[in-house]
Amino acid sequence: MTREDLIDTNRKIVEAVVKEVAPRSPNAILIMVTNPLDAMTYLAWKVSGYPHQRVLGQAGILDSARFRTFIAMELGVSVENVHAFVLGGHGDEMVPLPRYSTVAGIPITELLSEERIAALVERTRKGGGEIVELLKAGSAYYAPGAAATQMVEAILQDKKLIVPCSCYLTGQYGVRDIYFGVPAKLGTRGVEEIVEIELTSAERAALEKSVALVRSSIQALKL
Ligand code: LAC
Repeated sequence: MTREDLIDTNRKIVEAVVKEVAPRSPNAILIMVTNPLDAMTYLAWKVSGYPHQRVLGQAGILDSARFRTFIAMELGVSVENVHAFVLGGHGDEMVPLPRYSTVAGIPITELLSEERIAALVERTRKGGGEIVELLKAGSAYYAPGAAATQMVEAILQDKKLIVPCSCYLTGQYGVRDIYFGVPAKLGTRGVEEIVEIELTSAERAALEKSVALVRSSIQALKL
């Protein structure tokens, strides 16, 4: 089962819950964790009527944490030394960015072969399925919960923390009118800024594939 297969069941739940929440909490900030994440965050934004800055999705911290963990395991270093970047939709086309991933400030492209990096990228993309296989019932909860907590703390404490999360794009990265995983500055107002980074043509092509998957998921909602 892919995350996209959950769309019919989960859209009913998200619509029902957000319809109750929004009128009672008109100034809330919604952090979505329901799959397919980017489409469900888009749906929550539409149903809530909130400004898009106050509706965001948790996925990039989770995917980046997996990429960081696999890099740390590969190199035998502390995960605290590893910073990793994952752009894109929370799905099989997500875009881990080795060029922007470092160990103690050293780009992993100087520490690992292309083959090993490709293997870690692939394992990151399939990280959700790996957990499901191990759990046998249900899917990951601990790391997604920790990731959502980090987002809540960044907002409540007005940290101006830059983390990857699913945000509404209004032309950033040449993309508009979808929710998509990008680096964003989180503070008391929710998504306060979206950070644009330079991409190579190969990275841009991978991003476009992820955009297409997310856009088709959102179109399936027929909003
Ligand atoms: C995962 C689910 C939460 O990636 O999408 O584990």
